[in-house]
Amino acid sequence: MALKITVIGTGYLGATHAAAMAELGFEVLGLDVVPEKIEMLAAGRVPMYEPGLEDLLARHVAGIEGSSGRLRFTTSWEEAGAFGDVHFVCVNTPQKHGEYACDMSYVDAAFASLAGVVQEGALVVGKSTVPVGSALRLAGLLPEGVELAWNPEFLREGFAVQDTLHPDRIVVGVSEGAGGERAEKVLREVYAVPVAEGSPFVVTDYPTAELVKTSANSFLATKISFINAMAEVCEAAGGDVAKLAEAIGHDERIGSKFLRAGIGFGGGCLPKDIRAFMARAGELGADQALTFLREIDSINMRRRASMVEMAREALGGGFLGKRVAVLGATFKPDSDDVRDSPALNVAGQIHLQGGQVTVYDPKGMDNARRLFPTLGYAPTALDAARGADVVLHLTEWREFRDGLDPAELASVVTSPVILDGRNALDPVRWREAGWTYRAMGRPRA
Ligand code: UGA
Repeated sequence: MALKITVIGTGYLGATHAAAMAELGFEVLGLDVVPEKIEMLAAGRVPMYEPGLEDLLARHVAGIEGSSGRLRFTTSWEEAGAFGDVHFVCVNTPQKHGEYACDMSYVDAAFASLAGVVQEGALVVGKSTVPVGSALRLAGLLPEGVELAWNPEFLREGFAVQDTLHPDRIVVGVSEGAGGERAEKVLREVYAVPVAEGSPFVVTDYPTAELVKTSANSFLATKISFINAMAEVCEAAGGDVAKLAEAIGHDERIGSKFLRAGIGFGGGCLPKDIRAFMARAGELGADQALTFLREIDSINMRRRASMVEMAREALGGGFLGKRVAVLGATFKPDSDDVRDSPALNVAGQIHLQGGQVTVYDPKGMDNARRLFPTLGYAPTALDAARGADVVLHLTEWREFRDGLDPAELASVVTSPVILDGRNALDPVRWREAGWTYRAMGRPRA
């Protein structure tokens, strides 16, 4: 009989995972403790913008016309416990308030609730990003006869559906002995389709699986801060970081991805994951091994400040009485997520220093407004730019790269100066239309 799967926590990760499991042919029950979330999902809607996710839900959510009916949602732990052969725990692990460490309260609460209802013989699979050592501790909370595996998730926002259905690797951390072997067997069954399509299936112990996740994100953060450090040197030496990235990227050992210099990384993962990793290494007595991440973090934060300085300079030394248009609010394109967004951080800093900031973002307006209600917002890029003394391009949406007409935008601003915080616009096109174009780590003209 086909395995029955529950997904506990239906945020970004959980909602996508639940829909993907239904797409792979399983009966799925998604559980969340927030009833509003469950109501939305049960109607086939998602509380965030993620390309393709609503379509995938519509194909499977029970009650939607033409759907497979394989995906249902609940707030009842009893129902989830009775239903699932495999329970995926996908709850959030944010940064603790006022500390670097990760807040495990949602994971702990989920395990406590699950422990009371899970059936003997079931498999619990952790997917949340947790400090190394958590899986072993959490396994101890589960009743006898219930096995735990750790299966980190590597999906990127904006590509969540694709990354979940066609993962570039599946990592499974299991316990030693017969229980672990059984867990591996079950997860090979769950992931049979992507494995048959060629996704590598890597089996490890618990700590290694947990570390794969945090080390992968640390590596990505390091790569971005590396190129941003090179941008600082390029600025000092008169070099061009975009050319430099292109050239070093041709070396296959380096690779060209994640070498886009600019205002740096943000979002709900990279910043908090490197901090939680440092905090955990400290607890383990291995803090020296990760002191470099402190530098990665500070290079990253410095880029935001340096964007503010670039804008100040473009405005002749101060923000008072100046109009600043900000294109982009989300931490990256194809997402409505503004958590720790470098774009909003820059907009906020300029506003606090007296600039009149008007923001436009294709999808992130509502979330941005909630977080920074005192900034100005405009319904289009053109409206945001109207009367601006400087335009800041801070999130590289396709709409800005391909959809904006530099000549048209030039006709509405007070002064045609654009600062590209993402190195994503074509300098030639903008300069030809009469703009002063400046980008981070690149020559002035
Ligand atoms: C990241 C990882 O890429 C995923 O593999 C991981 O699963 C996820 O975190 C997670 O832990 O859940 P995500 O937060 O969606 O995914 O965003 P990324 O695509 O990694 O981008 C992060 C930030 O880096 C963005 O602000 C982006 O603008 C910035 N970035 C990215 C650069 O500044 N330069 C680059 O070259 C690439």
